[in-house]
Amino acid sequence: MTTTLVDNIGLLVTNDPGSGDGSVLGVVHDAAMVIEADRVVWVGRRPHAPSADARVDVDRQTVVPGFVDSHSHLIFAADRAAEFASRMAGTPYTAGGIAATLIATREASDDTLRSNASRLLAEMVSAGTTTVEIKSGYGLTTDDEVRGLAIAQSLTAESTFLGAHVVPIEYQGRRDDYVSLVAGSMLDACAPGTRWIDVFCDRGAFTVDEARRILQAGVSRGLLPRLHAHQLERTGAVQLGVELDAASVDHCNYMSDVDVDALAGSATVATVLPGADFSTRSGYADARRMVDAGVVVALATDCNPGSSYTTSMPFCIAVAVRDMHLTPAEALWAATAGGARALRRDDIGVLSVGKRADFAVIAAPSYVHLAYRPGVALVTATWKSA
Ligand code: NIG
Ligand code: FE
Repeated sequence: MTTTLVDNIGLLVTNDPGSGDGSVLGVVHDAAMVIEADRVVWVGRRPHAPSADARVDVDRQTVVPGFVDSHSHLIFAADRAAEFASRMAGTPYTAGGIAATLIATREASDDTLRSNASRLLAEMVSAGTTTVEIKSGYGLTTDDEVRGLAIAQSLTAESTFLGAHVVPIEYQGRRDDYVSLVAGSMLDACAPGTRWIDVFCDRGAFTVDEARRILQAGVSRGLLPRLHAHQLERTGAVQLGVELDAASVDHCNYMSDVDVDALAGSATVATVLPGADFSTRSGYADARRMVDAGVVVALATDCNPGSSYTTSMPFCIAVAVRDMHLTPAEALWAATAGGARALRRDDIGVLSVGKRADFAVIAAPSYVHLAYRPGVALVTATWKSA
């Protein structure tokens, strides 16, 4: 098996506190790393680096674990630029816009959906993302959800069934029938090959009781639960996530002390979505408060055509630092190791021996520049294990 020495790393973030400077980020200065196939086999200071079959010189740049984008909706057609423009002129964001994407997505060919999702994934990779979760949820018929998930599964191991995104128009006045469909035959058709089940549990979408029913049905078919919670109002969805041992509750804009304490005492991650708060002009989720309370916080893009049409984790890091009051180190951790926790993965988000060799090379002397130089494409290479 061929080994490769990634050499001349000015600053390496390992996210392994046992490595380097002993901080949570496990920073090693003047570092090198050896990879073999899809794994890291050695990490340390350059002078101690073993020889390898091949050598790549990164010219004193910074290396960080690849970003783990644990929340995205890439399976859709068309965009909603006019809705965004009208929002910036004062129209509030509601779940209602999803219906427009639903119509365009149902009409689109498989090829259109696949090439749109691939284009967005390529943008993500070029910005340093190495793992992405992809949800269905803009089809909302059994056939459309099955084909959306087939595309998602061809692009990632982290696919999510989101049949409970909104109640589609043809079920208006019959929401119980739609919940029964999602928790029944639609779920049966969508579960094979899918890892996660999600519900948009919020104003204009699904109630806590409906979400519980749908998520429990998913769990009984072997899917793992996660949910959209407290984006538009405080519904009780965060407590439901803790009750069901969801891997993550996402958005978390409206949080009481009880919610924060429940998360802090649980294995459920709070995933904040700075792109959504930015693009809906809502108040930012209070990531600072959650980190201070001991909650594990992750950062993700929520890439979708309505509330957050960004693929850039560096952008999310910059906003999380500027407006959610995380330190650059906390934001980087949330975008890497935090995302891994939100996907219940222990093989990614960390660069130590045995972990996946997934990393991003940044043209800067420090990871701080990800927030300090907002909007600048600093990622010069993304390494993704097979
Ligand atoms: O996470 N909140 C639900 N789903 C997306 C938005 C979907 C849309 O507006 O199209 C979100 O923000
Ligand atoms: Fe979302």
